[in-house]
Amino acid sequence: PLTARVNNHDHLEIGGCDVTTLVEQFGSPLYILDEQTLRTACRQYQDSFKRYYKGESQVLYASKAWSCISVCAIAHDAGLGIDVVSGGELYTALSAGVNPDKIYFHGNNKSHQELTFAIESGCIIVVDNWYELRTLVDIAKQTATQRSIRIMLRLTPGIECHTHEYIRTGHLDSKFGFDPNQLDDLFTFVSQQSVINCLGLHAHIGSQIFERQPHQDLAAVMVQWLNKAAGYGLSIKELNVGGGLGIKYTESDDPPSIEEWVKPICEVIQQACAANNLPLPKLLSEPGRSLIGTACVTAYSIGSSKVIPEIRTYVAVDGGMSDNPRPITYQSVYRAVVANRMSAPITESVTIAGKHCESGDILIKDARVPKIESGDILVVIATGAYNYSMASNYNRLPRPAAVIVANGEANLILRRETYQDLIRQDCLPQRLKS
Ligand code: LLP
Repeated sequence: PLTARVNNHDHLEIGGCDVTTLVEQFGSPLYILDEQTLRTACRQYQDSFKRYYKGESQVLYASKAWSCISVCAIAHDAGLGIDVVSGGELYTALSAGVNPDKIYFHGNNKSHQELTFAIESGCIIVVDNWYELRTLVDIAKQTATQRSIRIMLRLTPGIECHTHEYIRTGHLDSKFGFDPNQLDDLFTFVSQQSVINCLGLHAHIGSQIFERQPHQDLAAVMVQWLNKAAGYGLSIKELNVGGGLGIKYTESDDPPSIEEWVKPICEVIQQACAANNLPLPKLLSEPGRSLIGTACVTAYSIGSSKVIPEIRTYVAVDGGMSDNPRPITYQSVYRAVVANRMSAPITESVTIAGKHCESGDILIKDARVPKIESGDILVVIATGAYNYSMASNYNRLPRPAAVIVANGEANLILRRETYQDLIRQDCLPQRLKS
């Protein structure tokens, strides 16, 4: 959890920085990233794999959760590799100085240009489908690279888990990955290509998952695939079990710890490999949310409010669905505190609204808070994952700034967008100019 405390002004302090001072200095809305929380989560993943897995392991940060140079640089510095899903995320990771040997490029429809960029960068490509596999072989033959292209194959394991249907990916009816019923054809094809070097197999079953059984089932299924690959002379040495561990957004959320999640996966793989006489593969996993989700909060300033007697009180913040699209997209539930009056008694139930021209732009329905006034600083908790990365300029709101806090020091990691930034890509055709 956050390195947070209440200071003697009764203000929320994160990473040794007073949140109200941060807002005075950097403005609002403001993403506040606690470096220590992020680093602790990175370490917990790595330590857990080292402790419970007898083979080699590598944790990757799924940068779709929050892709920016500073976050990639911290993950890399902590020893993690990076999972990217687009040319843009690849470019960001490379710009952060991440070693391409530790970058894995995902995606179900990578463009020709993205594939070429990936090959040139030297990263590992996680091939999703036949079209991509054939395209890659064609590009490789044309570019006459000295090295064969390193790939992983993504498969759909057919494993169900309980999470929002938009973020479920493991069931057979998914747009991602090869159909495991085609393994024979796939392994035959791959074993005949000298321009590609298949390092391993990948699967990801979904996100914000609290159950541990689905990943254990996945681990067992993946060892069966590995066993099958051996029959084709493919020396596949890596298994990537994806990400997906959920985090605590509300009081009632009770996810397993990182260690509790990692341990049974390692055990299942070790047992299944021993039973099949297989050497232990290098084990990879690529969490996003559980690395960065709880490491960040968003601070907003309270503006207007509207009391509808006996029905509801709306209290509006200076951001909303553009900086946190998760409530409107997935009906996600968040918690909030009033950062400038931390010990005030919680007496109210209000609905925290955004400022967008849309009735559904509600951040928290029926939030339990103290009495709120205009000018208060409201802090929404656990906004590190899929907030900035899914942020938009809807209604032409500039994207907020982000700061990283550690040991009482705050540094900007993302500059607040300006109105000039908003019109930077706008073009006015000559004939429209007066
Ligand atoms: N690996 C792959 C191939 C993925 O597709 C994902 C997430 C991850 C790893 C990381 O999963 P995590 O550890 O973060 O659960 N925007 C949605 C979440 C979409 C997840 C997409 N894939 C949300 O805000 O809940």
